[in-house]
Amino acid sequence: MSAQNLDALLESGVKGRTVIVRSDLNVPLKDGAVTDDGRVRASIPVIEKLAKAGARVVVVAHLGRPKGEPNPEFSLKPAADRLRELSGLPVELAADVSGEDAQKKAAGLEDGQVLVLENVRFDARETSKDAGEREALAAELAALAGESGAYVDDAFGAVHRKHASVFDIASKLPAYTGDLVSTELEVLQRLTEHPERPYVVVLGGSKVSDKLAVIENLLDRADTLLVGGGMVFTFLAAQGHDVAASLLEKDQIPTVQAYLKRAEELGKEFVLPTDIVVAASFAKDAEHEVVDADKIGESRFGESGLGLDIGPKSAQAFAEKIRGAKTVFWNGPMGVFEFPAFANGTKAVAEAMTQTQGFGVVGGGDSAAAVRQLGFADDQFGHISTGGGASLEYLEGKSLPGIEALS
Ligand code: 3PG
Repeated sequence: MSAQNLDALLESGVKGRTVIVRSDLNVPLKDGAVTDDGRVRASIPVIEKLAKAGARVVVVAHLGRPKGEPNPEFSLKPAADRLRELSGLPVELAADVSGEDAQKKAAGLEDGQVLVLENVRFDARETSKDAGEREALAAELAALAGESGAYVDDAFGAVHRKHASVFDIASKLPAYTGDLVSTELEVLQRLTEHPERPYVVVLGGSKVSDKLAVIENLLDRADTLLVGGGMVFTFLAAQGHDVAASLLEKDQIPTVQAYLKRAEELGKEFVLPTDIVVAASFAKDAEHEVVDADKIGESRFGESGLGLDIGPKSAQAFAEKIRGAKTVFWNGPMGVFEFPAFANGTKAVAEAMTQTQGFGVVGGGDSAAAVRQLGFADDQFGHISTGGGASLEYLEGKSLPGIEALS
């Protein structure tokens, strides 16, 4: 990467200058409260370094996927409040993205103060496919920083998006790579270039179609792939098993069959669960029982049974593989971890990730939220990535627009 890093910006002197920082403050909310503040915590070091060095910091971030117009449900207020609480910095929130209030508040910033702009996706130009529209927003954001301004991309979770505040703005101001982005890239590089072996990849989550490209790429690199979560039922169906009412992406069966065959040819281990927790319905307190993975249709719930977690035998087998690995990458929960009755598979994987002697990386929003919700601490893991889609796309070998723009 040829972009300069944050230290170079700090060395050039930031006192009195306005620095736009793209952060990823896309945190999960419940009833307006932040339920996992991992991304806010991860964003603080760069904002703090700049503010302490006397910069006037303007934070640009998104939350959720509002449809290009203001929507209070997606306001960054809860995230900005948490940023203020955790950092102790003077943090204000603008009422708009690049409009009158943002302009007034940005112009009124004093050295060391922080302004968070309202959700940048309230402006449809942020995610527009039309480069001209994105450029226009990028120019308005850059103008908030003025002549001596600078831009720091620290939003690792959004680097895979070709958006105005991630991609286009980097050509409007002197651009720098934030520490979080640098660290995340170093970790991912370690996974793609010369990983220590055995290298085990654990994939879960609901949709196999989201993970196809990463499976494709990792088949060549990893030694063992462990598959759980909702996507496992497409694999079981591909092996000819009846999965009753479990989540199934029928159109992906041929692709999955091809992967299983290729894994065999390459001598890679593709480990699927041997038992499944099958429930009567998708509910927290649903009746459930453990059955063999090839007998889901024979559970006492018949064809209306649905698999909501990997079973205890599988959880143990997965945990053993993880503990014996030298490198592990895990993305996606093993079951519906939000319901305690169906969280055991995810818990077992998380626990094994904390026990592995190797380098264990937890990738992604959902998995990161899962480990914290299940009571694990960040420092029990080798690394918890702030980027779900971003880390997967990196591992898929795709080029990331946010990184491209910096180089
Ligand atoms: C994420 O949650 O992975 C990032 O914040 C990006 O969000 P997006 O998938 O809505 O672009």
